[in-house]
Amino acid sequence: RILILDFGSQYTQVIARRVRECEVYSQIVRFDTPAARLAELRPRGLILSGGPASVYDPGAPLPDPGIFELGIPILGICYGLQVMAHCLGGRVEPGQRREYGKGMLEVRRRECPLFRGLPKRLQVWNSHGDRLTRLPRGFVVVATTDNSPYAAVEHPGRQFYGLQFHPEVVHTPRGREILSNFVHRICGCGRAWTMRNYLEQAICEIRERVGSERVLLGLSGGVDSSVAAALLHRAVGDQLTCIFVNNGLLRAREAERVQEVFGRHFRMRLQYEDASALFLRRLRGVTDPERKRKIIGRTFIEVFEAATRKAGPARFLAQGTLYPDVIESVPIGGNPAALIKSHHNVGGLPKRMRFELIEPLRCLFKDEVRRLGEALGLPREILWRHPFPGPGLAVRCLGEVTAEKLEVLRQADAIVLEEMKRSGWYEKVWQAFAVLLPVRSVGVQGDERTYEWTAAVRVVESQDGMTADWVKLPYDLLERISTRITNEVRGINRVVFDITSKPPGTIEWE
Ligand code: XMP
Repeated sequence: RILILDFGSQYTQVIARRVRECEVYSQIVRFDTPAARLAELRPRGLILSGGPASVYDPGAPLPDPGIFELGIPILGICYGLQVMAHCLGGRVEPGQRREYGKGMLEVRRRECPLFRGLPKRLQVWNSHGDRLTRLPRGFVVVATTDNSPYAAVEHPGRQFYGLQFHPEVVHTPRGREILSNFVHRICGCGRAWTMRNYLEQAICEIRERVGSERVLLGLSGGVDSSVAAALLHRAVGDQLTCIFVNNGLLRAREAERVQEVFGRHFRMRLQYEDASALFLRRLRGVTDPERKRKIIGRTFIEVFEAATRKAGPARFLAQGTLYPDVIESVPIGGNPAALIKSHHNVGGLPKRMRFELIEPLRCLFKDEVRRLGEALGLPREILWRHPFPGPGLAVRCLGEVTAEKLEVLRQADAIVLEEMKRSGWYEKVWQAFAVLLPVRSVGVQGDERTYEWTAAVRVVESQDGMTADWVKLPYDLLERISTRITNEVRGINRVVFDITSKPPGTIEWE
């Protein structure tokens, strides 16, 4: 494996993913993890990530100097290079010119294995203010840019490498090959990290841990819980019981689909809890978005807890936690991972539920979870579905939630999804859905005057849900969606398209 020391860069997770795309297992650890602890993990190489700090700041994050004595190759990226140079006796200073964006790299030392198979001139992407002004002993220059005489450096004897630019981002088009050279040629890692290998190993581990005990899993129908369910079912069969709660706030045909796929196709033990009446009763008269969310969160826990009691004694509770949720983020400057987490952990289960947790996806990224799901035979429709909020349609049905409004919203939403899929746009965007606005306006249909509600169509693109932009859909697609909604959905006579980015808007309306 390759260990990535996280100095707080927004790209640390991208580095980890790029390494895994080379079919080499990578793991992120804090920058100050003691060298002895790193050695226990038996890495073939280390990567020092970038970070927002300057090495000469008081309190700048520095690694255990022992990492340079482990006798394994090290690649420092941006701040990682500077921190390596700083620790080994070089000098780093604030640059006169900050270097951001595209640059042209000139490879001067052609024998450097990091650039094997790559051309002499390469487009690279920079984002740094500080620069290296003196190399530590034993280092030589490998490549330069107009602004940096030390854009890439090497200590050939010790196999230490440093890059001032970011090979992990897409704006460094051949960066993957640079990282591949590091992990394969320099560190000598084989290509063992494949989903097929992972699947076999995960099944063995789950069987060993679970033995003959029972496992419960809360199935939402989203990508993560679905893949976790399929994996556990493959490993322990009927010892797994999936609990699916219908909160009455699901999309059209959602509950039926889950029962079809998991109950009938996979033949899992599926405990279906229809609590829609309870949720709707508790939401009656409530219009404040935060109160709606709280009521839904609390009610879910209550219903789920009761469902687990009904399911009978079980030792384990499985969850589809992913790697980005468990990485201990470095508390220095602008690490977006930390923020995403707080948002998504809303609605965790209370500690009093005495289960041992099983989290079979906790070392995987989302794209790996999808590939694992493919290997397990889950339909594309589940693996590539858009994120859907826990509070469901309640946050898309503005104001008071009623059964009538939900039904109208479901029909409008189903049309949006159908037309997005039919036109091939569904897979190109982050989320697409309808929102029901309890605003009535006057219209005319046939020869009749109407006075009905409004549907807003929201379609956004995003990398991680933290920021988003509205998607410039073709007019003819928008036209089809609008015509179909006003023709087919009773109760809506007007359709508007949301052209707000995030920020300042959020993706959901409540
Ligand atoms: P916002 O509306 O905050 O949403 O821009 C960002 C992303 O998170 C999803 N979302 C949620 N997901 N529980 C969830 O699991 C929630 O309470 C929740 N609220 C919003 C939203 O769909 C978008 O992808």
